[in-house]
Amino acid sequence: MDGPEERSPAATRERLESEVRRRIAPSPETLERVARARAELVATATAEAARQSIPLVRAVVAGSAARGTFLSDRLDIDLFLLFPPGLARPELERHGLRLAGALFPEAETRYAEHPYLRGRFGGFPVDAVPGYAVTDPSRPQSAVDRTPFHHQYLIERLTPELIEEVRLTKQFLRSLGIYGSESRTQGFSGYAVELLVLRWGSLDRFLDAARSWQAPVRLVVTPGATPRVPEEVPLIMDDPVDPGRNVTSALSRRSFATLLLAAGAYLSDPRPVFFEPRVPPRLDRSSALDRLRVRGTHVAGLELPRPPLVDDILYPQLAKAARATAEEARRLGFSVLGSASAAGPRSVTWLVEVASRQLPHAQPRDGPPPGAGRSESFLEKWGDPSAPVLQGPFVTEEGRLAVESRREEGRIEPLLTALLPQISLGRDLARLKGPGVAFLPLEELPEAEELPIALGELLAKSLPWRAPGR
Ligand code: CTP
Ligand code: MG
Repeated sequence: MDGPEERSPAATRERLESEVRRRIAPSPETLERVARARAELVATATAEAARQSIPLVRAVVAGSAARGTFLSDRLDIDLFLLFPPGLARPELERHGLRLAGALFPEAETRYAEHPYLRGRFGGFPVDAVPGYAVTDPSRPQSAVDRTPFHHQYLIERLTPELIEEVRLTKQFLRSLGIYGSESRTQGFSGYAVELLVLRWGSLDRFLDAARSWQAPVRLVVTPGATPRVPEEVPLIMDDPVDPGRNVTSALSRRSFATLLLAAGAYLSDPRPVFFEPRVPPRLDRSSALDRLRVRGTHVAGLELPRPPLVDDILYPQLAKAARATAEEARRLGFSVLGSASAAGPRSVTWLVEVASRQLPHAQPRDGPPPGAGRSESFLEKWGDPSAPVLQGPFVTEEGRLAVESRREEGRIEPLLTALLPQISLGRDLARLKGPGVAFLPLEELPEAEELPIALGELLAKSLPWRAPGR
């Protein structure tokens, strides 16, 4: 085999990409079986609706399984059960779930904006999602109503070559951990990837543009489109079926920056690692404690029972809890290096890393400038012989009164625990605050399934395409 050094990056890339395209492509038999399952799903749903007098307008398979743009090891069939736009929301859910239930012998109810059913059909996992058969996708009545229009838009434009590039691009983003728009990932949705590939025609041309992007980037699909965007979105791309919507509204600044850096790195040094799905780093407690010794730092954390929430609702609340805890530690005077959080099936944990576990006993306190009329009360309070004073009161170089008092409790865990009532945790986690809930040092945290994930996020950060520490 020729070494990569004998080839130009472009030639290496071409070889690598054609190998990956082959590896991730579904086989013709799979495509055939998907097509059959698709047709049967629609026929069965239609027949069942008629039999049970359910007011179904139509059933459609949309999403990547309808276009062949799925990755073979990540295949879900998305079935949309579309009802008359006038139907009340509870009726939509009731009819939708009953009809979906008739399609699958065993199904699990899941929740997004509204409930849907996950089951199996023809050997494939299927999400059966109720929605409204709207005629104008810029006026959807539920979150999924644009989907059939997305499908129509894409299917009219995708060619077999573009379909291969869509899969390749999805796999590339997956290696970076930024494929998927769910709140845990905050990356690119499948639909966003298809639009990006339509625009640039290939992964390489897309990356070549992305490597020199600077946020915020505005990609106009429909001339004159002005998507409603929240502040600080790094990438704005209007949805061709609803120009007021930003397709990449879920993309975080971290995911955006990861793409930009990886684009440059890949184009100059294409390596297989850019197409290997990223496994988030895990760190067990004892390796984490080893690292803390080397780093000279301390980790405190809190574990709570998992509230009964779907990931998409839970993750933002956990991230918020971790951020609020870090902010509170900073205000107490700790030097904060980082924070992280993770959810397991039974519990959730968040962590904060600080330079040292303990604040000093000496606590500097600024007083008023002289003449402000408040120096008397300051002196009365801190001049009292019984006051816990280590030094002062005295006048600082800046000409203010000051004192250094004695802090009784300097350890981060009791200090944060005492502040728990004030730390803003997000609605559902806040409910779990109560007696007995306390921050603990890493050594004493319960052995929870999510702990190694949170520790990995806190102490094993790296660029996905580079070995850590390089
Ligand atoms: N969709 C969307 N925006 C999202 C998520 C989904 O518009 N943030 C719509 C798209 O029309 C998408 C469809 O819902 O095609 C199905 O969603 P999903 O299964 O998440 O995406 P796929 O396109 O099917 O891609 P994947 O291969 O990841 O399943
Ligand atoms: Mg899908």
